[in-house]
Amino acid sequence: MLSVVVLISGSGTNLQALLKATDNPLYPAKIVAVGSDNDAPGLTYAELHEVDTFVVEPGRFESREAWAQTLLASVQHHQPDLVVLAGFMRILPANFVNALKGKLINTHPSLLPLYPGAHAVRDALEAKATVTGVTIHKVDEGVDTGEIIVQQSVPVEPNDTAASLHEKIKVIERELLVQCVQDIATKKIVLS
Ligand code: GRF
Repeated sequence: MLSVVVLISGSGTNLQALLKATDNPLYPAKIVAVGSDNDAPGLTYAELHEVDTFVVEPGRFESREAWAQTLLASVQHHQPDLVVLAGFMRILPANFVNALKGKLINTHPSLLPLYPGAHAVRDALEAKATVTGVTIHKVDEGVDTGEIIVQQSVPVEPNDTAASLHEKIKVIERELLVQCVQDIATKKIVLS
């Protein structure tokens, strides 16, 4: 059974999908804790599933590194095999990323390397893209630059808004994330 810590910043629907998957006893991963950089609404899903939560707010620390070190300690306390950034909207410094090498993945709402950063859906629309999608990738110190693990495309319709397009992407994203974590647990995908 793969032990997973999930980090979120917002609504937590990707987390919710993972928690729902783990309700099936045949799913080969379990979520041992959920962390956030703020009092995120999505933490409620963890509480409903009686999964431990922790919040480490950057504003309470003198540097990003000090914040990340405390966040790392909270993550490592749960001894995860895998850490999933699922809508975690902070760039993580080297001390965090290096300590979790081979165990840290992120989900991003575009077909990377296109549209990295916090406004991927808006940027795809502004670029008049006819197709965008979702990428699950390994995390390095850059902004959405780590090695790509899986991707799936989503068509952009002429009347899409950022909100409608993001919703369509998130439907695909949740399925892809649940499948990707399963594939990591069964070693169909090997992270190095
Ligand atoms: C996802 O689309 C994620 O890729 C992006 O923010 C969204 C988070 O959604 N960075 P949720 O919090 O899982 O609902």
